[in-house]
Amino acid sequence: MNRTESFAGEALQVVRGARSGVAIAVAVHSTERGPAIGGCRIKPYPSWRDGADDALRLSAAMTVKCALAGLPYGGGKTVAALPPEGIGKARRPELIADIADAISALGGRYRTGPDIGSSSEDMAVIHRLAHGWAFCRPPDQGGSGTSSAATARGVLAALQAGVAPGSVAGLRVGVIGFGSVGRLICEALIERGAEVVVTDVDSGLRPVAERLGATWTTADLLREPLDVLVPAATGGLLTVESAAACGAGLIVGPANNQLADEKAETVLRDRGITWIPDVVASAGGIIHAVGREELGMDETAANAKIDAIADTVSAVLALARERGLPMSRAAREYAAR
Ligand code: PHE
Repeated sequence: MNRTESFAGEALQVVRGARSGVAIAVAVHSTERGPAIGGCRIKPYPSWRDGADDALRLSAAMTVKCALAGLPYGGGKTVAALPPEGIGKARRPELIADIADAISALGGRYRTGPDIGSSSEDMAVIHRLAHGWAFCRPPDQGGSGTSSAATARGVLAALQAGVAPGSVAGLRVGVIGFGSVGRLICEALIERGAEVVVTDVDSGLRPVAERLGATWTTADLLREPLDVLVPAATGGLLTVESAAACGAGLIVGPANNQLADEKAETVLRDRGITWIPDVVASAGGIIHAVGREELGMDETAANAKIDAIADTVSAVLALARERGLPMSRAAREYAAR
């Protein structure tokens, strides 16, 4: 452990859920621009410390994401670190109530949303128990609903900017992850004439993908020759090794924290591969949620703001090229402006 490392965030609260016994970490990275926002991740971790670490890392990324999207919010994140064996379904309501308590305790400095392992329905419960500090409740309960479609829309805008002035038609695109967002991205790309190859750990999704017109593969798409690679599963796929083996020309997708190692970015750059940081490409979900629920935007206005992700991508690309910066640096510098 590096004992001289200073704490870059504002607060890290870790509680042991009174009902569930689960360790819940809420990281507030910054409230400088407004309340901290960030999803609620519920998944097994080897230890609570790993969960707290993840909350810290993800909350910092949320600060940059909000700033790049031009939103008056800061970054935060909740991680409920389940034991490796998970918790039974029956205990889940206890856990959600514990999470609501943890969010309440922060007094409004942080508001949550759905993330890996949590749903719109969970947000409805947290909204009710924690003073309304949760986005994305189901529309019939007054919320803006799941943010999947908005996230997919933002990724498509970023992808289009990444291939500009060319078009998506005729490109060979590999999508890793056929979850709710990955699937919408596949659908839209096929509609626009791209050739889509997709993979997912859940092989049961294969018929659905094929019905859309995508080609299913079990190969490692990272190594396949592709025009575009879309990481739409969990993060951390870009290591020095995978960057050296990557066969794509452009990498852009919604997965959070794609860069497992800063050095991977240098490898990508040296090989002429453009990586559009997830903090830029994945902002559609938060833009839609806060736009609709708190900033008074209608659907048209929210969509226009999501489509403007394309302009941010172009600006960050230009800054990176002009100053010879890695994309993540360029994104942070652009955010700081
Ligand atoms: N997974 C989204 C995120 O962390 C969840 C979210 C949506 C958070 C809306 C806040 C508001 O980016």
